Amino acid sequence: MGAFMEPRIDLYLGDCKEILSEILDNSVDLIFTSPPYADQRKKTYGGIHPDQYVEWFLPISKQLFRVLKPTGTFVLNIKEKVLNGERHTYVIELILTMKKQGWLWTEEFIWHKKNCYPGKWPNRFRDSWERLLQFNKQRRFNMYQEEVMVPTGDWARSRLKNLSETDKKRDESKVGSGFGKNISNWLTREKAYPTNVIHLATECNNKKHSAAFPENLPEWFIKLFTKEGDVVLDPFMGSGTTNLIAKRMGRGTIGIEIVPEYYEMVRNQIKPGQLVLFDDKVKYGKSQKTRYCSVR
Ligand SMILES: C[S@@+](CC[C@H](N)C(=O)[O-])C[C@H]1O[C@@H](n2cnc3c(N)ncnc32)[C@H](O)[C@@H]1O
Repeated sequence: MGAFMEPRIDLYLGDCKEILSEILDNSVDLIFTSPPYADQRKKTYGGIHPDQYVEWFLPISKQLFRVLKPTGTFVLNIKEKVLNGERHTYVIELILTMKKQGWLWTEEFIWHKKNCYPGKWPNRFRDSWERLLQFNKQRRFNMYQEEVMVPTGDWARSRLKNLSETDKKRDESKVGSGFGKNISNWLTREKAYPTNVIHLATECNNKKHSAAFPENLPEWFIKLFTKEGDVVLDPFMGSGTTNLIAKRMGRGTIGIEIVPEYYEMVRNQIKPGQLVLFDDKVKYGKSQKTRYCSVR
């Protein structure tokens, strides 16, 4: 019997704007990333001015379009900042410009941060959500909805206990939309499809990066849009949450990070079992690539 093949892991140190050109056309199943936010967290890594954000991002999204498979999905975690008392419009402008680049803006998920920071501002409330914009190259893409089904739980049980006659019959929509429902069908179901609002706490085990994802955020999207052996890319890797989770879930993964400390941290954290390490420092000059490949 041949050696067990683990999916590949490629980690790069450098600017994703340049490094992405190393990645093959149509080779990635899911891109899941959170780029540096406009001008925020300037102390930890260079912020981009909100007015230049779209211009800065477009060459990157062009490369992402090239490397994504036609059946793949790009999920972009982003939230516009407040500048001079109002929300800046760079995210909206980015969506419009990416559409011109060929992307379909398929969906927007809301990440509801259940434990956002307490606070009070004179003209707004606490910010407790972020966008996860879903982009695709075509209308038909891989999506494994059953993988993220949720238990129907207490709400369904109490609702189902008191079924009205209409509930038991097929209740053709009262507004004439044509969508009928038969709630009693849910009696036999233990699981339901989730909504596009994802309720997660922000805290995460990974305290080594100031903007790390909670692990179950990439996990949810990796389940929804990939299967084992698929390839997940995070071009703004940070502490590598996306990559570590992808590896744990049996997916191949590619990560790019511009700050050497973060890159080293991920390199040390990803401990491949049967994989062999190839360091390729020469070819990339200042930047560096770590490739773990299966023993063949
Ligand atoms: C919002 S953080 C990502 C955090 C990550 N999701 C995690 O869980 O740790 C963005 C990361 O992108 C990196 N970065 C910024 N500009 C970059 C670029 N041009 N190429 C590659 N990485 C970049 C930053 O150093 C930072 O670590």
